[in-house]
Amino acid sequence: AFSLAARCLGQDRFFSEIPAAEASALAEIFEIRPFTQQVYPNLQPARLVGYEGMSPGPTIIVPMGTESVVRFVNNADRENSVHLHGSPSRAPFDGWAEDLTHPGEYKDYYYPNYQSARFLWYHDHAMHWTAENAYFGQAGAYLINDPAEDALGLPSGYGTFDIPLVLSSKYYNSDGTLKSSQGEDQSLWGDVIHVNGQPWPFLNVQPRKYRFRFLNAALSRNFDLYFVKSNALNTKIPFKVIASDAGLLTNPVQVTDLKDSPAERYEVVFDFSEYAGQTIELRNIQDAGGIGVDDEYENTDKVMKFVVSSTPATDTSNVPSTLRNVPFPPSSSGIDHHFRFHRSNSQWLINNVGFADVENRVLAKVPRGKVEIWELENSSGGWTHPIHVHLVDFRVIARNGRGVEPYEAAGLKDVVWLGKNEVVQVEAHYAPWNGVYMFHCHNLIHEDQDMMAAFNVTQLQD
Ligand code: C2O
Ligand code: CU
Repeated sequence: AFSLAARCLGQDRFFSEIPAAEASALAEIFEIRPFTQQVYPNLQPARLVGYEGMSPGPTIIVPMGTESVVRFVNNADRENSVHLHGSPSRAPFDGWAEDLTHPGEYKDYYYPNYQSARFLWYHDHAMHWTAENAYFGQAGAYLINDPAEDALGLPSGYGTFDIPLVLSSKYYNSDGTLKSSQGEDQSLWGDVIHVNGQPWPFLNVQPRKYRFRFLNAALSRNFDLYFVKSNALNTKIPFKVIASDAGLLTNPVQVTDLKDSPAERYEVVFDFSEYAGQTIELRNIQDAGGIGVDDEYENTDKVMKFVVSSTPATDTSNVPSTLRNVPFPPSSSGIDHHFRFHRSNSQWLINNVGFADVENRVLAKVPRGKVEIWELENSSGGWTHPIHVHLVDFRVIARNGRGVEPYEAAGLKDVVWLGKNEVVQVEAHYAPWNGVYMFHCHNLIHEDQDMMAAFNVTQLQD
């Protein structure tokens, strides 16, 4: 349907270099404001809105244990609500969808940052506008570091050997502007793959190990990522997954491809040392959810490429065979809640309830401190849904069908890929705060069209 990308970007689609990563410390004031990006050289620029007028927004880097307050000033033309995804923020600072900051206003968000090292991200969460706001630029990376992780000797140095790669997938209009997501009621797959805001970019690397932090920030598209040499496209090169949503895994998991649904983070170490002077491509297995994504597009099998220098590099980094003791919740038994994700009457719903159904949308009351198992059932036929639970980290303990992936089992997560016809069980410790929090599908089209509900964590009574 959309062939503009292939037509305008030319044969070698890995055409622009990833820009130098912008990093920012704490106690910041972030302005949400419009900016333009020239995507197609001879057409109009895309008109976007982002944190500090860029997309992704500046990466916030915080040492564990340092609380932060970030003021988000809304200088856009529509309301917003900011969610720090992966943070156990107190409810008033969690980006509740109806807690809107209007144009000309600001809100100060308090973040506890007590968690161990992990890759969080901040993005818009405004009622019915989350998809459009995130898609037009309101998303950015947020890293917590800690000394235990630093001591492992993993490839390090933000922007040099430790690089966030924020993936997205978009459609453009024939004039070069970004096509709105409004009016999409099923999904927005996108035919132009972006990394850190650049379509099909390249990155110059040294022949050594790199840590890449993948975030799928696409509205709907699932990725299944793999690395190949440009001249051997059928031979997938093994790499190591070292971390997921909630930080380091117990140990590295070697894979040849990595499934990443919207909002999931996976961190990997890729070793370029054998490929001096060559080109490595990061590619995507098309229609990764197996749901017949509009028959797919011409170039969605390509993501980016790495141009490996022929100059030898020194590399003192390593990937220890044990990474950490992951704080899995104490195991419990029995299913505490069962949630069915389905489509009825042209709405995306959870147990027949949508977020607009104010009286019924609190679907679970959870005593604070309790460990619960939630069963998530996909009963929407051929669709897939990335399910995100705010406040907690969970362990994926069961999945019918393809089973729990080894890299899911080795760590804690806050989003789980609920594949077509799958039933997944996740176990979490509901702590440390009381509060009403959201859980939802992170296909943001589904989320905006109501596949979102709430749970209420309440204090244990004597
Ligand atoms: Cu990444 Cu409720 O969001
Ligand atoms: Cu969904």
